[in-house]
Amino acid sequence: MTVRPEAPDITSPEFAADPYGSYRVLREEFPVLWHEPMQSYVISRYEDVARAFRDPVFTTANYDWQLEPVHGRTILQLSGREHAVRRGLVAPAFRGDELQQRFLPVIEHNARTLIDGFRTAGKVELVGQFSTHFPINVIVDMLGLDQADHARFQRWYTSIIAFLGNLSQDPDIAAAGLRTREELAAYMLPIIAERRENPGDDLLSRLCLAEIDGTRMSDEDIKAFVSLLLAAGGETTDKAVAALFANLLRNPEQLAAVREDRDLIAPALAETLRYTPPVHMIMRQPAEDVEIGGVTIPAGSTVTCLIGAANRDPGRYRDPERFDIFRDDLKTTSAFSAAADHLAFALGRHFCVGALLAKTEVEVGANLLLDAMPDMRLADGAVPVERGVFTRGPGSLPVEFTPAA
Ligand code: HEM
Repeated sequence: MTVRPEAPDITSPEFAADPYGSYRVLREEFPVLWHEPMQSYVISRYEDVARAFRDPVFTTANYDWQLEPVHGRTILQLSGREHAVRRGLVAPAFRGDELQQRFLPVIEHNARTLIDGFRTAGKVELVGQFSTHFPINVIVDMLGLDQADHARFQRWYTSIIAFLGNLSQDPDIAAAGLRTREELAAYMLPIIAERRENPGDDLLSRLCLAEIDGTRMSDEDIKAFVSLLLAAGGETTDKAVAALFANLLRNPEQLAAVREDRDLIAPALAETLRYTPPVHMIMRQPAEDVEIGGVTIPAGSTVTCLIGAANRDPGRYRDPERFDIFRDDLKTTSAFSAAADHLAFALGRHFCVGALLAKTEVEVGANLLLDAMPDMRLADGAVPVERGVFTRGPGSLPVEFTPAA
């Protein structure tokens, strides 16, 4: 007689230490699970998670309580025409031409500056000295904000992320998140007013000027979007860079292949996003009763979609627990567009608007890191350990290398 395993508890320390075994049990035994502590249904199979992202009956109203208290009202919560218009207002700044012409130099400059800090040292802790700073510095510069305020943005970003991941409802973390909302508003609103008067060619000015059919974003809308960008564009890309290198350093022959042929950075990033996605779970809220995997989920419930589990579903990917940048069952050419098949950027209307920016940042950063550290290897005895449940990535990544002469 086979005994059915217990349903994994997503809020347990065991799950935080290693969610991948639990993901397997969830997919196989509890594909639609009611999770009491989180008061949420949990779905884990590729097919079900992809459907929840694509089918508009699964709304993003959950962000009303998950994000609005700390950011204000953002694009993530919107639906229908309101969402389409807002998306139309912000998306052009993140598309290919604009990115290449205006923002590529900003990305290169920020990567180089950070690498110059350790170029001759022979060792670096890649998370603390590179990946946590790089994307946030890029966004601050893209927005045309003061370089001197990088540290302040870093602090706000850390507090926003802690608020979002506050599963245990720690009151100090909640209070710090709300304080950040006030501080960010006090900082941003006068700058937004000034850019409306004297626009430049930075991202913030573009957001101020953007207009579709007479609709523009209010000052409050822009401030909320900036706050979202710090979290959505900072932490995710930070974890993507760190995970890419953790995966490659653990697979030296694949690292060597990427070092020799830099066109492999994009496929290696796509595989990293599948294998170790920066965002492991996002939520949805069905507008009406909906059946998924044979279970009826009542309207208004919270559904937690396990991206980390779906991306390793053997029903979708062959040998899914293996990191393989050469796999032929992951479309790498469309991995950064809404036609992606991995789920790291979600799918459908809310597909990550910054996917191409993230790809550009990682390509530029990875290229320059590989140039600066041709023989990079994990420091003696170092074993990268992933941290986080909602978002997840290596906590630290100590690397050694021979500095270029
Ligand atoms: C590897 C890096 C990234 C990952 C894994 C990622 C992941 C995601 C995911 C999963 C969503 C969908 C959320 C949902 O549907 O509930 C999303 C949406 C979004 N992302 Fe990203 N993201 C990344 C980089 C960026 C960057 C660099 C930016 C901009 C600076 C950005 C800005 C946004 C915005 C504004 C949305 C909301 C889009 C909408 O609601 O229409 N992201 N991202």
